[in-house]
Amino acid sequence: MNGAHDGKVAFITGAASGIGLAIAERLHGDGAKVVLADIDEGRLSQAAERIGGDQARLDVTDADAFEAAIDQVRQDHGRLDILVNNAGVIDIQPVAETTPEAWQRLFAVNVHGTFNGCRAAARVMREQGSGSIINASSGAGRRGVANIAGYCASKAAVISLTQSLAAELAPHGVRVNAYVPGHIQTPFWHGIAAGFAGVTGKSEDEVVEMFRATVPMGRFGTPQEVAAAVSWLASDEASYVSGESLAMNGAEFPY
Ligand SMILES: NC(=O)c1ccc[n+]([C@@H]2O[C@H](COP(=O)([O-])OP(=O)(O)OC[C@H]3O[C@@H](n4cnc5c(N)ncnc54)[C@H](O)[C@@H]3O)[C@@H](O)[C@H]2O)c1
Repeated sequence: MNGAHDGKVAFITGAASGIGLAIAERLHGDGAKVVLADIDEGRLSQAAERIGGDQARLDVTDADAFEAAIDQVRQDHGRLDILVNNAGVIDIQPVAETTPEAWQRLFAVNVHGTFNGCRAAARVMREQGSGSIINASSGAGRRGVANIAGYCASKAAVISLTQSLAAELAPHGVRVNAYVPGHIQTPFWHGIAAGFAGVTGKSEDEVVEMFRATVPMGRFGTPQEVAAAVSWLASDEASYVSGESLAMNGAEFPY
């Protein structure tokens, strides 16, 4: 895919860590100018300096701030070709112990944050007559999983939003897709292992092993394996692909 994104401008949220960082690196390696956005200012500046991209300190739940960040990209680079709504959070609790605030926070980041990005990018891309929006869902958005009901519901909402916006924006030359990772080795898993250990009584190592054992390939994926698929989705090679939710999961969730 070397050169696949020459001359393009990409904005990636949650880009200071894990999958978002790998996507920023990959799109940059494939020729795009990248703008890394994250709420964590310290790790963001380290990541942006390492890759050689612009940085935008952004809380995706703030619709005005998201719009201002996208306007800044247009001012700086004249266009926006790729938006990756990657930022996401998880909360691990039995439903009876889940507070309304925790539920709302999940939706604020995972769903409203994605909507905020789609809305801001749609305004630019519609006018441009081109663009690719790619949203982070999850295998958990395709099925129910005990103790993460809010996360599953929020990631299912991302798939639904993706399908509707793909139909709406297709006449304007804008494609909208989602990526659906299975278990990917990132810092996200520190929280997941600790959270499931808390509700199941297993050790963190046992939790990780429990999830690994569900993957037919017998291993977690890497952020780079997700990034490769996202780069393809964003590329002109995928020109007739829109509304798709593409899984990278070692053959898990085969339905
Ligand atoms: N790692 C996995 O196994 C896995 C599986 C399925 C889906 N996903 C999804 O992939 C995406 C990336 O996950 P990851 O594993 O790289 O996680 P991660 O925790 O390593 O990185 C997430 C990044 O998002 C940032 N972030 C959180 N809230 C934010 C906000 N309000 N505004 C801006 N940035 C914010 C964090 O600071 C962090 O840098 C998430 O949407 C996650 O739900 C991950």
